[in-house]
Amino acid sequence: MTIGVICAMQEEINEIHKDMQSDRTTTIAGRDFISGTLYGQNAVLVMSRIGKVAAAVTAALLLEHFKVDKILICGTAGGVDPQMNVGDIVVADYSVQHDMNPGDNSFRIPLLDVDYLKSDEALTSLALQAVSEYASAQMTRDIPQEYLDKFHISAPKAVLGTIASGDQFICEKEKNTWLYEHVKNIKCVEMEGAAVAQVCYEWGVPFTVIRVISDGANDDSSVDFDLFIEKAARFFTRGIVRACFERMA
Ligand code: ADE
Repeated sequence: MTIGVICAMQEEINEIHKDMQSDRTTTIAGRDFISGTLYGQNAVLVMSRIGKVAAAVTAALLLEHFKVDKILICGTAGGVDPQMNVGDIVVADYSVQHDMNPGDNSFRIPLLDVDYLKSDEALTSLALQAVSEYASAQMTRDIPQEYLDKFHISAPKAVLGTIASGDQFICEKEKNTWLYEHVKNIKCVEMEGAAVAQVCYEWGVPFTVIRVISDGANDDSSVDFDLFIEKAARFFTRGIVRACFERMA
């Protein structure tokens, strides 16, 4: 079995790459696909770049060229549910494209006749257990106390819920409220997950999406995002991937 791992940011890839063995890099369409052994499993690690089109192309290449059997997409997201705090982890039971509107104000994808794309149940339940354990036991040890204090992270939690994706970095309270009111059981928002979900749905391949909250997707978002990636997210993403892989062994 080979597992595809997609992250949107180079910093996250670099951190995970350090733990990869027997790795070799194949470049296609400007993307570096790193194949090798990761935490005891065959894996292909790749940076999607940012946004739904970039993520969809990356997922399709993982499936067609590298023939991966499952896809995990990991990274950061902006909190939408007011219960979500920076450092909390969301595992998607459903993914939806919040900027999809075929003319009837639904999120339904034309011709596929689906709006909320369901993650693979077994993979999602394994991921939720793995990241719950990581959030309660290990996560705060990965980050120096100075930055845990700066980001107000003390007892991060792991939850299951809808993750919405769109080609927008959300940093306005008004849009955040719109998402909360229109997307069923939304926890957070990002820019790639639901695109990968659509590709996996069309290929019939299991996937799940895991995100750590980096910002409140409101008026302060752009201020704290870069620092969070540098000081926290890359370690969290590595920890999340490792926790999942160890459970899949
Ligand atoms: N990824 C991390 N934070 C985000 C935000 N506020 N909007 C969209 N994608 C994000």
